[in-house]
Amino acid sequence: MKILPSMLAADYGRLAEEARRCEAAGADALHIDVMDGHFVPNLNFGPTTVAAFRRATGLHLDVHLMIDRPDVYAGRFADAGADAISVHVEAPCDIAAALRGIRARGIRAGIVLKPATPAEAAGPFAGLFDYILVMTVEPGYGGQGFMEEMLPKIERAAALWPDTPIMVDGGIAAGTAPRCVAAGATELVAGSALFRAGDMAEAIRALRGAG
Ligand code: DX5
Ligand code: ZN
Repeated sequence: MKILPSMLAADYGRLAEEARRCEAAGADALHIDVMDGHFVPNLNFGPTTVAAFRRATGLHLDVHLMIDRPDVYAGRFADAGADAISVHVEAPCDIAAALRGIRARGIRAGIVLKPATPAEAAGPFAGLFDYILVMTVEPGYGGQGFMEEMLPKIERAAALWPDTPIMVDGGIAAGTAPRCVAAGATELVAGSALFRAGDMAEAIRALRGAG
């Protein structure tokens, strides 16, 4: 079970320290949310922030692109030091080209599904992605409630692609993680549950124990 703190919930005045705090607490990777104000109604992080995280930590950097043109911008995040980049299947662009472009940089490519998008939507891109990210909230903001109705979709994705890691993102906490893991999730992204915890290491252990 991999645990990825979502830096969306970090203290933005001390991002390098926050990255090192995650590393010391036992995180497997940092999850970095990128938003363009078009694909989602919010703006957050860019390639320069990813480069700053790269300088701050040796942890694997997982970049979640919530933008209209991942085909155009993914390379900038690869240049900045991302180890994995995920793109939304709903983005209005050539998704196959975006996934191929990410892999051409020698890093992992992920495909992301918004809550309204069925697992089958990833089907046309089978063979082009290394992991699937099932959103368990509407993308755009941290601190939202977990959507129970996503559990069958996690199961479906796990049945369709049994050898592909399945990441979940949104409302993941000690109470919701076990159900995601039982449904087939193998990587858990958590923002508020980890950054608001008194002891992040303890909170990471609690999530890891969900398996
Ligand atoms: C939402 C982001 C998430 C967010 C999760 O659009 O993709 O990564 O940070 O935050 P929590 O864990 O607080 O729901
Ligand atoms: Zn995310």
